[in-house]
This record gives sequence, structure tokens and C-alpha cells, in this order.
Amino acid sequence: MISTFVPRLLDYHPQAVPVPYYHHNVDADEFLFYSVGQFFSRRGISAGSITLHRGEFVHGPQPGVIESSLGKKDTNELAVMVETYRRLRLTTFAKEIDDNKYMLSWSQS
Ligand SMILES: [Fe+2]
Repeated sequence: MISTFVPRLLDYHPQAVPVPYYHHNVDADEFLFYSVGQFFSRRGISAGSITLHRGEFVHGPQPGVIESSLGKKDTNELAVMVETYRRLRLTTFAKEIDDNKYMLSWSQS
């Protein structure tokens, strides 16, 4: 499945939490390429970043991101996500540039 995240209005209810909730896809890997814009759901992400969330990996907003997103009306992010039921394998180059601290980003505020 290929999805796009495009500039859009966010949920504007006064009690809405506009960032994605914690989730995992049991059977699918999520590959995301961040192209342009402000990626407010994750710190440390910028244009050109790539993330890979394995199927069994629970992920969502980092500490403090929910609070900082409250009241946000829109987003200008542009990203592409590929979800695949076939496990992705890292190339040699991907292993060389892998940020091995990324998995710890959920425990850091
Ligand atoms: Fe996800």
C-alpha cells in the first residue's frame, strides 16, 4: 500500500489530539520518506529523512509531542509511506547510515 501525507487541515475539535496515536501493524512494515514541510509528529525528522517501523514495533508521538500539538490547525508536511506485508531488508548503505538511537527516541523528551 502506498500512502501520501499532504498539506491538510487537522482535526479541529477543541478536545482533538491532532497527532497520530500509538499503533503498530502486526503484519506490515512501514517505510516513510519525508519530502517537504514541518513534520510535527516526530522530533528529529526533516526533509530527506527516512524511517522504517517494523510490523511488531509500537510507535506514536514522542514524549511532549501530544501537548505541543494541541490547538494546531493544519500541517504542511509532504511524505510518502509504503506499507508492505513482505519484510523489508536493509541494504549495506542503509545499514551504514542507520541511526541506531532512533528506537530510543520514544523515551526521550
Ligand atoms: Fe506508523
